[in-house]
Amino acid sequence: MNFVPFLSRVLCRKLYVTASVVVCLLLSSLAVFFLFPRSIDVSYVGVKSVFVSYDQEKRSVYSEHHGEPQNTLNITNNNYYSVEVANITAQVQFAKTVIGKSRISNTTAISPLDMKQIDYTVPTIIADEMSYMYDYCTLQTIKVHNIVLMMQVTVTTTYFGHAEQVSQEMYQYVDCGGNTTSIRGMTKPFSAPHPAE
Ligand SMILES: *[C@@H]1O[C@H](CO)[C@@H](O)[C@H](O)[C@H]1NC(C)=O
Ligand SMILES: *[C@@H]1O[C@H](CO)[C@@H](O)[C@H](O)[C@H]1NC(C)=O
Ligand SMILES: *[C@@H]1O[C@H](CO)[C@@H](O)[C@H](O)[C@H]1NC(C)=O
Ligand SMILES: *[C@@H]1O[C@H](CO)[C@@H](O)[C@H](O)[C@H]1NC(C)=O
Repeated sequence: MNFVPFLSRVLCRKLYVTASVVVCLLLSSLAVFFLFPRSIDVSYVGVKSVFVSYDQEKRSVYSEHHGEPQNTLNITNNNYYSVEVANITAQVQFAKTVIGKSRISNTTAISPLDMKQIDYTVPTIIADEMSYMYDYCTLQTIKVHNIVLMMQVTVTTTYFGHAEQVSQEMYQYVDCGGNTTSIRGMTKPFSAPHPAE
């Protein structure tokens, strides 16, 4: 038996094995890098428009959309794969009372490392035990009738058959004294003072 060819065959097989281990490690670290779950960021941009109406008899204040969406949300996908937004649930609170809820459930996909802006509307109603707000909002002697609303939103995203939820809470000043469009800016989370009665 010739020893040299035998040795080279063994070495080659060893090298081959080593090379495939290296390739395998490389591929798996690439897979880990690209498939590693990264955050999906939800940021509340603010209120775009508020359309208010009043019911004098019921002493209630309503807000709905009249063709224009109310709120805007940025959803950023920091992953190297696209994610589906399965649904968005939104809730508006005034003075710790839920005054409106809505659910947006048509799915939309967000491409890898991309951001999508989503508009949504939450019809709200301030009534019953908070009907004193009707007087405040319709008070003629003041120009600006700001109230502080807490906007809560939960975004459910799915990828690889796995669901994940991200929630956001923001306080937002809204003028309940009339229709407003193109309001910008928002307030950072803080403990909400009760509006003047
Ligand atoms: C939302 O996206 C818009 C458009 O890219 C950007 O101008 C804005 O700064 C973003 N706002 C937040 C709060 O992330
Ligand atoms: C939102 O979608 C997820 C995933 O499809 C589902 O598990 C969840 O029940 C949905 N939430 C609502 C409020 O429909
Ligand atoms: C989601 O559904 C609403 C009505 O239910 C429709 O106006 C809107 O265009 C849909 N959005 C997408 C992204 O399909
Ligand atoms: C706001 O606009 C809506 C729709 O245009 C209208 O029905 C409503 O009366 C307006 N409210 C006020 C306070 O002007």
